[in-house]
Amino acid sequence: MAARKSIHGEWSSRWAFVLAATGSAVGLGNIWKFPYITGENGGGAFVLVYLACVAVIGVPIMMSEIMLGRRGRQSPMNTMRVLAVESGHSPAWQYLGWMGVLAGFLILSYYSVIAGWALAYVFRTGLGWFQGQTADGVGHIFTEFINDSESLLFWHTVFMVMTVVVVMRGVRSGLERAVKFLMPALFVLLLMLVGYAMNTGAFTAGLDFLFSPDFSRITPASVLTAMGHAFFTLSLGMGAIMVYGSYLPRHTSIARTTFMIAGADTLVALLASMAIFPILFANGLEPDEGPGLIFITLPLAFGHMPGGLLFGTLFFILLTFAAWTSAISLIEPAVTWLVENRGMRRMGASLAAGTVTWLLGVATVFSFNEDSVLAFDFTFAGETKTNGVFDILDILTANFMLPLGGFFIAVFAAWFMNREASRDELELREPAYDIWRFLVRYVTPTAVAIVFLNVIGVVQF
Ligand code: PHE
Repeated sequence: MAARKSIHGEWSSRWAFVLAATGSAVGLGNIWKFPYITGENGGGAFVLVYLACVAVIGVPIMMSEIMLGRRGRQSPMNTMRVLAVESGHSPAWQYLGWMGVLAGFLILSYYSVIAGWALAYVFRTGLGWFQGQTADGVGHIFTEFINDSESLLFWHTVFMVMTVVVVMRGVRSGLERAVKFLMPALFVLLLMLVGYAMNTGAFTAGLDFLFSPDFSRITPASVLTAMGHAFFTLSLGMGAIMVYGSYLPRHTSIARTTFMIAGADTLVALLASMAIFPILFANGLEPDEGPGLIFITLPLAFGHMPGGLLFGTLFFILLTFAAWTSAISLIEPAVTWLVENRGMRRMGASLAAGTVTWLLGVATVFSFNEDSVLAFDFTFAGETKTNGVFDILDILTANFMLPLGGFFIAVFAAWFMNREASRDELELREPAYDIWRFLVRYVTPTAVAIVFLNVIGVVQF
């Protein structure tokens, strides 16, 4: 069969793909979310479960997603439909693409609000708000900020506009250029922050928290969170990586690129945590601070370190960029579909998708406002959540929709797509191909299913 071509263009090289996919993977998930959920879930043991999920579930699914994308060369819906029909199965597989698009909208709606926080903190840090502040002072500034819904709405709007503008311009011109410089810069800055953390006096306490597992802290809910986060941080289960894979030139090694992306993503998350926890312990703060964690610990550090004004500003700029490159991939599946099936231009499609997401995001804005009805408390699997709609969206998407999407991607790649097709596309030698196939056939789906069942309470550890 002649290989298909994407109507949306192709990456200029394998590097471009690695950078873009890394840009999608590395984002708020690594620097904002991973540290705060690690803090909430007791540290070491949670980190271990997360790493295991990345290796056993994340890597095989990422390979599958890239493979399906490159084989289908279209939006996730059309890719799934075409590939299913081609191997003699129901076109209903396209609904997997639909679930992904829905997940993308829901995630981006809150993602953009948090990215707005980062954007606001660029200016606050730059203007010296945190210079010489105490932990209490920094905490107070943060609380006041998230209760100021107008401000949050403003920054959410700015960030959505930024995202839509890049998506309009298409993958090549918009995306490739940005990631090339920003990813390495972010990495260097994180290393510097870890260097600072080494001198806080609590570096060992931080490392201890992160790397000595206390398995009594593990619950079915925390395992679900760790697994969900493996999907979230690697951008899996909703078609983002599938769409990026659809622009991937033929004959680039999918396995090798997957290792690079997953490796870089994990490294960034671990570095961020190694910077944050020592700062936190050195200042007598609590690890279970929640979504505000990095917005309290890091400004505190920037307010006291030499050159903190500069580095702090730079840090939040880079964090915003990291979030930007992820946000783009969150609406790209919807945009490609609108272009393919609704005959829209990229511009109109991006605007439409951006507007819907922006509207949805308003619910998250109010989730952080104590006076709003959207900021209610609730318990989920024994854990108390305090940020109403935001927490619901987060749990629904990261803990359920992405793993469910990933589950079906693995099942499709392993059980429905014919063997020749996957072998041809992955171009792996024995035994690597068999290992991949064994993982996606048996191990990955079973692991996801067990974690789900556990939370539902059908099976207990
Ligand atoms: N991986 C991104 C992050 O860690 C978030 C994301 C999820 C992006 C799903 C695309 C798809 O911030």
